[in-house]
Amino acid sequence: MENLTDKLKRPLRDLRISVTDRCNFRCSYCMPAEIFGNDYPFLEKSQLLSFEEITRLVSIFQKTAGIQKVRITGGEPLMRKDVDKLIAMISAIEGIDDIAMTTNGSLLPVYAQRLKAAGLKRVTVSLDTLHDERFKEINGRGVSVKAVLAGMEAAEKAGLGVKVNMVVQKGMNEGDILEMARYFKGTGRILRFIEFMDVGNSNGWNMEKVFSKQDIFNTIHAEMPLQPLKPTYQGEVATRFQYQGSDEEIGIISSITDAFCSSCNRARLSAEGQLYTCLFASKGHDLRSVLRKSENDEHIISILKEIWSSRTDRYSEERMQNTDKPR
Ligand code: GTP
Ligand code: 5AD
Ligand code: SF4
Ligand code: SF4
Repeated sequence: MENLTDKLKRPLRDLRISVTDRCNFRCSYCMPAEIFGNDYPFLEKSQLLSFEEITRLVSIFQKTAGIQKVRITGGEPLMRKDVDKLIAMISAIEGIDDIAMTTNGSLLPVYAQRLKAAGLKRVTVSLDTLHDERFKEINGRGVSVKAVLAGMEAAEKAGLGVKVNMVVQKGMNEGDILEMARYFKGTGRILRFIEFMDVGNSNGWNMEKVFSKQDIFNTIHAEMPLQPLKPTYQGEVATRFQYQGSDEEIGIISSITDAFCSSCNRARLSAEGQLYTCLFASKGHDLRSVLRKSENDEHIISILKEIWSSRTDRYSEERMQNTDKPR
């Protein structure tokens, strides 16, 4: 396999696959209920890539670029019927040795065992606060914290690794950072704090709502001293820290104040088969129609090579340069 790199010499290592645009939550910063109402035109089944199509693509990505890691996302991936079957199909592909899922956790009590049996290794569960009232306000569907914690427990019981994602929004939940850190310390669940980003649908982002990596670090470090850890792999998005005197770690994901585009090796496949080379890309590449037209893989391989080798995306770094300028 030749070395496939983009214009900034970044390899393609990590494929994130959205399997549905639907979600049973309506988080204010992602799918606000006012916009995603009863008559919202979610994708029809025929518009979604089938499991066979996704598997074919993963296999092509593996052969062409040597990807090892696949992350299943949504919307809420567990809203896609029989998603465990897809996981079993992907785990059968030679060379794929890490399959993870990013989920809101609420359906894990039902699906965790099946996911593990299918070959899923780990889940990342989103949880922004331990306060029920605030959590219900954030998720827009009145789901309790307990339901999400039950999902994490079910995942662990099934033998899945568990990480926790907390999106920190200034004015919303920055006061919950310490409580979250205390709660998850000692549980083996790695907690990651994420700077609030300008993604999502009309999510009302502005710089004033960002609680920075430095602020997050200071908040925790003052009570529970931290020391830096080396990245586990090249291109890891979270900066890792360890509580001094323990082997428990946390992560901070700083795409706003300390962007990590220079090592970004991720591609994203949307539920309808658009390939995006950046989280913030406004335009994707339609692989669905290519898949449905081409019987031989060679054509798809050449398109994939062409897409990745022309990639220049570095949105977060560019935004940082622009927002740093004096106003
Ligand atoms: P690991 O495989 O455990 O390292 O997971 P991960 O950190 O790659 O996955 P996860 O989906 O949990 O990503 C955590 C968060 O980082 C996401 O929710 C995004 O907010 C952010 N993030 C992930 N990838 C990117 C990226 O390529 N660019 C930017 N700007 N943010 C990203
Ligand atoms: N900023 C940061 N993180 C976000 N997520 C969703 N929207 C945003 C945003 N605007 C997180 C979710 C989940 C992961 C997939 O992305 O909480 O953990
Ligand atoms: Fe659903 Fe996750 Fe978006 Fe919330 S952040 S609406 S749980 S996809
Ligand atoms: Fe990668 Fe785009 Fe995120 Fe930069 S902004 S790290 S290029 S996905």
